Amino acid sequence: MGSRIVATGRALPRTAVTNSDLTRVMDTSDEWIRTRTGIERRYVMANGESLVDIAAAASQTALERAGIRPAELDAIIVGTVSSEYGFPSFACQLQHRLGVDSIPAYDVAAACSGFIYALSVADNAMRVGDYSRVLLVGADALSTMVDWNDRAVAVLFGDGAGAAVMVSEPGPRGVLASLLRSAGEYWHMLSVRATGVRATLDSEVRRSPDDAIKMKGPELFKIAVRSMADVTLKVAERAGVRLEDIALLVPHQANMRILNAVADRLGIARDKVFTNIDRYGNTSAASVPVALDEAIEMNRIRDNDLVMLNACGGGLTWGANLLRW
Ligand code: ACO
Repeated sequence: MGSRIVATGRALPRTAVTNSDLTRVMDTSDEWIRTRTGIERRYVMANGESLVDIAAAASQTALERAGIRPAELDAIIVGTVSSEYGFPSFACQLQHRLGVDSIPAYDVAAACSGFIYALSVADNAMRVGDYSRVLLVGADALSTMVDWNDRAVAVLFGDGAGAAVMVSEPGPRGVLASLLRSAGEYWHMLSVRATGVRATLDSEVRRSPDDAIKMKGPELFKIAVRSMADVTLKVAERAGVRLEDIALLVPHQANMRILNAVADRLGIARDKVFTNIDRYGNTSAASVPVALDEAIEMNRIRDNDLVMLNACGGGLTWGANLLRW
């Protein structure tokens, strides 16, 4: 028995913030942000807006497309580091919001690699027969954790949620292989203290530099390129698939220059790499499922295509999943 994604959905906060909007808040320029990152716009949470509501909207779309009622789910697994609460988990809050009774609901905390990790966890559980229908979500709101005076970090992140419904299924389609890696020795390269303070762009509340996301950008850049390329190659090898046979790479949207460098390192043509970072920025664990949902909507993925997902993020964590669509 294997597992297959049968439907996806996405939802974003209502507030779109362009690079020009940011120039009114900090000393930056549209030109710097576009050329260094590829980002033109991102959606950010407003004061009082709930990420659980946004994740529920993405989940409802995916469930409707799958033709599965919330009550038919066997598990809810969420890749996130943005729960407003230390506990309960984000997944339990989402479970309640969807009106689902007693099934396992839990979070996987792997920052930007959250969806890749959650997908692997779900696939393994489905292979051993634990669950038949799983709601998988990637949701994050890192814009609420930045120091809005730290221009090197604040311009990068957007918020949102993506969802996928997975069903267990025999046969050649579905998840072919996954590989997860972590290197705690690099934890300090991308970190944020747990404070519960949500410093949305439109609120008076601000995070102090000590409590905001801290990032060693240039060092992270190099590790991200190396690790995302390496794990992608290893997953392809594990599945016995040649990189040239992959129809679409759907990577974590970290930075356009990182995505181009990963593609070049792997010898994958850039037109086989799905990107939407220009419109969303880096949405952490939401980035891969939001991109996957858009790629499907844009007919970039067809039945039986080989689709590779990969990511790198805080932890540091990285990983990849190879799917036969
Ligand atoms: N606007 C204008 N100038 C800026 C801005 C800004 N928003 N941010 C930084 N600068 C300035 C710096 O102050 C510096 O000026 P100086 O030379 O006078 O000191 C100059 O730009 C260059 O700064 P660098 O940090 O060297 O710029 P770099 O080219 O490395 O780009 C960036 C920075 C975009 C953060 C890059 O390092 C990067 O993308 N790193 C990866 C980080 C990442 O993706 N993090 C996301 C989470 S991890 C993940 O998803 C994989």
